Amino acid sequence: MKIVAVANQKGGVGKTTTAVNLSAALAEAEREILLIDLDPQANASSALGVEVVAGRSLHGILTGDENARSVSEQIQPTPYPHLSIVTSELDLAGCEIQLAADINRLTRLRTVLHDYRATGPKIDFVVIDCPPSLGVLMTNALAAADSVLVPLQCEYLALEGLAKILEMIERIKQVSGNGALILEGVVLTMYDARTNLSQQVVSDVRNHLGRQVFDTIIPRSIRLSEAPGHGKPIVAYDPSGVGAQSYRELAREFLARQT
Ligand SMILES: Nc1ncnc2c1ncn2[C@@H]1O[C@H](COP(=O)(O)OP(=O)(O)O)[C@@H](O)[C@H]1O
Ligand SMILES: [Mg+2]
Repeated sequence: MKIVAVANQKGGVGKTTTAVNLSAALAEAEREILLIDLDPQANASSALGVEVVAGRSLHGILTGDENARSVSEQIQPTPYPHLSIVTSELDLAGCEIQLAADINRLTRLRTVLHDYRATGPKIDFVVIDCPPSLGVLMTNALAAADSVLVPLQCEYLALEGLAKILEMIERIKQVSGNGALILEGVVLTMYDARTNLSQQVVSDVRNHLGRQVFDTIIPRSIRLSEAPGHGKPIVAYDPSGVGAQSYRELAREFLARQT
C-alpha cells in the first residue's frame, strides 16, 4: 500500500482533477485504490458522484475524537470497481483551528493510515486529494505519504511556483519527521498546444527537473472540466476522449515507474 499525496499550495492547478482521474484510471487498470478527500470543499467526493454526508470524513479521527469511526468504517464504495473513497465535509476546515494546541496534530493521519496498512484489506494505492492551503490538513497528508505528486499548471511563472512547492515539501518533511517522503513526480496540466507559453513551460520545467517530470502531459479539455458536474471521472464521462486517454496514459506511466 503506497500512499500518494496530490499536493500544490496553489488552488486551481488540477489537484482534484488529477487525484480523481488518476485514481479512476488506476482502478480501471484493476489496481485497488482508496481516494481520500482531504479538502473541506469536497470536490473529489462530488466528482465521483458520492454524496457528502455530515460525520463522513476524517474530521473525528484528525481531531482525536475517541468516538470517531475508524478509517475502515469511513471507507465507502464508489460506483466504480476497485475504487473506494473517504469523503470530505466542510467540518474538516475546523481542523486547522481545533488542532492548534494538540501535540499529535501533524501526525494523526500518518498513525491511522500506517495502522490501516498493517491491518486493513489490500489496497495498492491511497491517493490523497489535498487542500490548497499550507495548513494542518496538508501537513497531515505529507506526513502520512510515501510520495507526493505535484500537478503544475502550464501558465506564466510556473517555474517560480514549482520552486515554492519543492521548498514547502522540504519544510514539511522536516516538521513532520517524514524524512522518507519522495517526489513521485510533477504532472503538467491544462496544456494548450496552441500557445507558445504552454510549450515554454514544458521545456523550462523539464530542463529544471528532468526525469522527475512525467512524460504524460494533461491537455486543457472542456470534457475534463465538465465531468465533475456529472459526478463522473473522465474515463466514465467521455471514455474515448483526449482527457480519458491522457489520464490512462498517466496511470500507465505511474505504474511503470513503481519498482
Ligand atoms: N486539463 C484540464 N482541462 C480543462 N479544465 C481543467 C483541467 N484540469 C482542471 N480543470 C478545471 O480547472 C479547475 C481547477 O481544477 P481543480 O482540479 O479543481 O484544481 P485544484 O484541485 O488544484 O484546485 C476546475 O474547474 C477543473 O474542472
Ligand atoms: Mg481541489
